[in-house]
Amino acid sequence: MSVIEGKHPQTSQADRGRQRATMLEIQRRLIAHLEAGRTTDFAPAPYQVAARVFTDPARLDAERRELFLKLPMLAAFTSDMPNPGDVVVFEAAGPSILLARGRDGQVRAFLNRCRHRAAKLTKGCSTARVLTCPFHGWSYDLEGRLVGLPGEAAFADLDRATLGLTSVPVAEWCGLIFVKAHPGDEEIDVEGYLGPLAAELRQLDIAHTTPVRKHRIDLKANWKFAQDTFFEGYHFATVHPQTIAQTAISNVMVHDQFGPHQRVMMASQGWLDYVGHPEQEWRTPPYEGIHLIFPNTIFYSGHADRFAGSDADRQIFGCWRSFPGATPGESFTLMATYRPKDADEPEDIAFYEQVSDFIMKVVETEDYSLCAEAQANLESGPPDAPIVFGRNECANQAIHQRIAEAVGDDS
Ligand code: FES
Ligand SMILES: [Fe+2]
Repeated sequence: MSVIEGKHPQTSQADRGRQRATMLEIQRRLIAHLEAGRTTDFAPAPYQVAARVFTDPARLDAERRELFLKLPMLAAFTSDMPNPGDVVVFEAAGPSILLARGRDGQVRAFLNRCRHRAAKLTKGCSTARVLTCPFHGWSYDLEGRLVGLPGEAAFADLDRATLGLTSVPVAEWCGLIFVKAHPGDEEIDVEGYLGPLAAELRQLDIAHTTPVRKHRIDLKANWKFAQDTFFEGYHFATVHPQTIAQTAISNVMVHDQFGPHQRVMMASQGWLDYVGHPEQEWRTPPYEGIHLIFPNTIFYSGHADRFAGSDADRQIFGCWRSFPGATPGESFTLMATYRPKDADEPEDIAFYEQVSDFIMKVVETEDYSLCAEAQANLESGPPDAPIVFGRNECANQAIHQRIAEAVGDDS
């Protein structure tokens, strides 16, 4: 048994039952909307957001400070670094951080910064027993201790024990690894942070996944504008007529709030056949949900066959993390998809690659191309000119309200 399998037992029968029950409840609500003539969940009222929320450098500074540097950030999946010696660099939230899985199986996180003259120790993903600085060759073990110091006599007055790497808070939970992007010894209480969303994510078998595709998209639009596109299905018919709208119904969505975290799901085209039929005749797919782990991580558990028009029940996980770029009008999204580890026949792998490529292409060429044009409009107009989210864009409303609260923007 590997370190990971020992730490994360496979999803139990009870979890599978819970997943199915949760999905059936989501399906009931969506089919009720279809029966009512394609209604959708509604917020109490429309909600307006000033253009400056997307364009003001002071607002972006507050978001970096209050969100990206203070809150737990999803840095990696367990399956990105499953083995002792695996090292992953995460620098999207601000400081460059290296995550290292030690020989004891524990993940530790440090500033990716040599204690000599601050060079970056490593870039990207690697496997290592020691981390050797490319500048003058100081080396550190996976626990962050300084273990090699060329020309040691020059530093004889310093206590080597004080020259280890600087820790940042890290926690591994149910296949997900969170960090806080600042130095310190405080613990991350993942379940406390996720609140009731923890139970929804715990039942999924995230620890027993393996990466399919990873991709970075750079975008000339604010990170929140990009993120908003994932949380409403109002645009499906107009933006995705040949892709997503072939399998999902436009503007029929259910929305749940879990503290600052959110979940939405849209109705499938195939479910129109279930209207007027008892639920015993419905086919309920594997659990599907688009979750926001506040503030910036979209975690999608989905039914991959929905995109391929096949009848199997293959589950796919998607992770899309939006981060600020250098200015309010720039951002980047780290996209990744994962498949169950045991779906490893060549045809399974080819299937997951094809579905992953499809999802990434849709996001990049259909959703994100609109974002950049809208951002240019926002930047060319008065900062207080509002955009408006309808009652049907209820998740977007909630996300903007929670972000405004977190950064103390009460305008
Ligand atoms: S900066 Fe790392 S060894 Fe000099
Ligand atoms: Fe979209």
